[in-house]
Amino acid sequence: MNSRIPGFGRLSPPERAAMLEERLGLPQGTLLQDLVGAQPDLSVLDRRSEGVVGALVLPLSVAPNFRVNGEDAFAPLVTEEPSVVAAASRGALLLREGPGILAEVPPRRVAGQVQLRGVPRGEVGAARQRVEAARDELAMAARAAHPSWSSDGGDLVALRAYEAGVDLVVLLVIDPGRAMGANLVTDLCERLAPRLEALSGGSAGLRIVTNAVEGPPVRASGSLEVRRLHRDPLRAEAIARGIEAASRLADTDPLRAVTHNKGIFNGIDAILLACGQDVRAVEAAGHAFAVREGRYGPLSRWRVDGDRLCGTLEVPICVGTVGGAIEGRPATRAAFRILGIETSRDPVRLSAVTAACGLAQNLAALTALAGDGLLSGHLRLHAGNLATALGASLAEVDRVASRLRDEGGPVDRARVVRLLASVRRERDSI
Ligand code: MEV
Repeated sequence: MNSRIPGFGRLSPPERAAMLEERLGLPQGTLLQDLVGAQPDLSVLDRRSEGVVGALVLPLSVAPNFRVNGEDAFAPLVTEEPSVVAAASRGALLLREGPGILAEVPPRRVAGQVQLRGVPRGEVGAARQRVEAARDELAMAARAAHPSWSSDGGDLVALRAYEAGVDLVVLLVIDPGRAMGANLVTDLCERLAPRLEALSGGSAGLRIVTNAVEGPPVRASGSLEVRRLHRDPLRAEAIARGIEAASRLADTDPLRAVTHNKGIFNGIDAILLACGQDVRAVEAAGHAFAVREGRYGPLSRWRVDGDRLCGTLEVPICVGTVGGAIEGRPATRAAFRILGIETSRDPVRLSAVTAACGLAQNLAALTALAGDGLLSGHLRLHAGNLATALGASLAEVDRVASRLRDEGGPVDRARVVRLLASVRRERDSI
């Protein structure tokens, strides 16, 4: 499968869906059917939340050009920020060479905490030992409580007890199988709490997942020839050095690191949202990881090595491909089809493409920042949104955008209002 589709952006949405079906070898109409079926139905939405009065519709887009671990991929993206999809495609194109982006996904782990209050002072050490020695018994109880999780490869893989202030905390670490695992581990914490109370002599307080991810992060790395950054070799070299300097600044300045990481999450959140994942959980884990050395730092780093620019991103990504919040949603099914994981429901591939998308997004943002700046591309899209919000038709949006391109300079609401008025005056005078 080849994920390069020159001119993809110029097709209409149904033409794009048809093109994807062809590339992905899907029967004609499969994607469209799910995407049309994804139109909001208030009676369904009313069961998904409380107090429902309407729906907020966001575009589901596809970024082509991805190559991850030697295989081409399309990234399904849902975002309200107009420049994200173009940036992901541009970054992915730059990082396509050879096997493309290399993503290493460690075995997934999810942990839950049981807070034990009132363990008598002087008995905490012995209580810890009793709890940890009961690991096999607790694992057996966990498997018995959720046989389908256990037969899908899930298990209790570690159990630790530690002191936190006056409390004893038991950390249950599970292999979640193909589930995201948060509800599962919370359920296990609740079920095993009475036994932990008996073993420790304490009384159970909180019994809940921790969104901090256990174990190593997902790692995505990629490189490109510096000369590919610009037609002019001197400009290309300057951009590469600018990206390296931006990475260095994010390393030393937490204020820059926050924005650097925000750009990475532009890509990560968009793909997770398209795939029905808990975006906030992944963000919380990512920011906790970014501050693991005691100061907030960047999740990715870039350096020039000879004639190549090389980047590495490390980020914990906890995703699931089975479970109530995911299954049965037509748009999520379409996103899984686009990713090529509909039947395998392979969370490893979802994690790999998600990390790759974060890296690609970061590269595109830094390339723009180290080159002409963001204003040219990013803000023109912003102008399109402003004009649409002012009631402009599609043709008017195009005219306003091309005026802005011709005139150059900053884009703000007042300017878009003025240009839209002049476009309308001209039309009326014809
Ligand atoms: C904008 O949404 C994201 C950027 O600010 C990221 C960055 O500065 O690296 C462009």
